[in-house]
Amino acid sequence: MYRVCAFALSLALLIGSAVAQVKLNVTAISARDGNSVIECWQLDNPFASSSKPGVAGCAIAQLGHLDNLTYTIVPSNYDGGLHVAPYKQWVFFASGVAHITVPDDSTEAFVKGGDFGLIFAADTADVSRRGHKTAFPGNAETMGLQIPTRNGEIPAHSVVHAGPCEESEMVGFRELAATGL
Ligand SMILES: *[C@@H]1O[C@H](CO)[C@@H](O)[C@H](O)[C@H]1NC(C)=O
Ligand SMILES: *[C@@H]1O[C@H](CO)[C@@H](O)[C@H](O)[C@H]1NC(C)=O
Repeated sequence: MYRVCAFALSLALLIGSAVAQVKLNVTAISARDGNSVIECWQLDNPFASSSKPGVAGCAIAQLGHLDNLTYTIVPSNYDGGLHVAPYKQWVFFASGVAHITVPDDSTEAFVKGGDFGLIFAADTADVSRRGHKTAFPGNAETMGLQIPTRNGEIPAHSVVHAGPCEESEMVGFRELAATGL
């Protein structure tokens, strides 16, 4: 027996109540004082209920205007070296693992491809002198999608904390799928 999405229903029950909206948290590579930093961002745009056929009533989050999409394959044990983000862009790692570090800072992010594979890279040359380093230590290749935003837009967000988002800060979507809340 297939299920239906009940997000719309639960949302209707919540109207007027004080229950917090669910928002997406993503690891971001940002910049402060000319240096790249790894941060956990919470996007301002909350999950909403889709009205689109095929996923009607399911939870969706709109991630903004985009420019184009590049499909990239990186072999296992590849070191991409230090670089600035070419554009303000989303990167979705679908498989493999990316190890992201920034100079003179001990914070690091291991981004596993899949469920928790979405990050935002904002440390372009205009804000970061040296950028960040991405290495791919996995035994398997990494498949990623790079998606620059239109006009260098950065999604509206608040900084939750320094360092990458933990998996426990990103599992909220499982609850959305399970309870529609
Ligand atoms: C993709 O988008 C970026 C950012 O806007 C742009 O600079 C680049 O030229 C685009 N690439 C292609 C192949 O259109
Ligand atoms: C984002 O973080 C907040 C606060 O930690 C949490 O309540 C929420 O469920 C998280 N969102 C997701 C999609 O995991």
